[in-house]
Amino acid sequence: EDTRKGGFDHYMLKEIFEQPQSFYETIRAGIDDNVRQMIMGADEITLVACGTSYHTTLIFKYLAESLCNISVRAEMGSEFKYFVPPLRGLVIAVTQSGETADTIAALKMAKARNCSTLAITNVQGSTVTRVADSTLLMRAGPEIGVAATKSYTAQLAALMQIVNLRCERAFDDVLSHAHLAIGDVLLYDVRDAVALCSKADHAFFVGRGAFYPVAMEGALKMKEISYVHAEGYAAGELKHGPFALLTPETPVVAICTPGPTYSVMASNIKEMKARRAPVIALGVDGDKELAEIVDIFIPIPNTHLLVQVLTASVVLQLLAYHTACVLQRDVDKPRNLAKSVTVE
Ligand code: G6P
Repeated sequence: EDTRKGGFDHYMLKEIFEQPQSFYETIRAGIDDNVRQMIMGADEITLVACGTSYHTTLIFKYLAESLCNISVRAEMGSEFKYFVPPLRGLVIAVTQSGETADTIAALKMAKARNCSTLAITNVQGSTVTRVADSTLLMRAGPEIGVAATKSYTAQLAALMQIVNLRCERAFDDVLSHAHLAIGDVLLYDVRDAVALCSKADHAFFVGRGAFYPVAMEGALKMKEISYVHAEGYAAGELKHGPFALLTPETPVVAICTPGPTYSVMASNIKEMKARRAPVIALGVDGDKELAEIVDIFIPIPNTHLLVQVLTASVVLQLLAYHTACVLQRDVDKPRNLAKSVTVE
């Protein structure tokens, strides 16, 4: 067992460290002509997924709509099944295992409505690959830890390639170097942030745009493996209710990177500070202004938006992982959870 963990304390940490490779391999494998045609021909794209995979579909929605102006709908498999939206074009099921019952049921409904269907999965020959018209295989390799890590970034590799295709391959260079930036954050020391989170009963994770689902995923990781209650929120919504919960014991993890939402994020952070919540900010390297207004500043490389999404996500995985270790949780097998949920 220890040899299979490759010297790491947990599979989860090993899998976090495999991300540069699994991201790179997924990009290198590319997209075959048949799938390429499906993607180029779709005037509307609907994605269905559950759990962590659902978060990658939300990230895709933000990126594809803002960078290449395509209409995208991201749906939870478990909801979609009962409240099927009007469907046209391409429906993509995103599932690491390829076996999640709700996601597969949703894809079958899309097929029954004559949509073209694509599976993005990590497991060749899995159920979803037999249901969908075509498959785009991600190259993460087997993932043992219950909490998804390398499959999440490999899904983003697959989905970012779709964004790239639809944006006339404007991001070829960004995607072919992104694994290097992922590698740069793996050894980050997040001890101070871990100390705050491991003492907390509740935490918020906030962001805007594509960083909102990144924050949702950070909160999900924190909940599932450390059992600290964490909520992912769109930063601007915090004042519509959750502000009532902010105390000096409620850390807020805020992602605040350059771009159109930078200044509004910075003022959100000041509002949180005024409610005495400790703020852990992820911002770009060298952002002294941000570092000055927060309690803990974690710099991520100052790169392209697509890469910032990846590096911020990996830093949040490390935060959840080390918090869970401090709290002596069963990191690879959190209570009550299964790697794959095969019942609806
Ligand atoms: C389970 C796992 C999650 C995963 C979700 C969807 O709940 O614990 O980590 O995100 O299923 O799995 P899938 O295989 O469809 O991506």
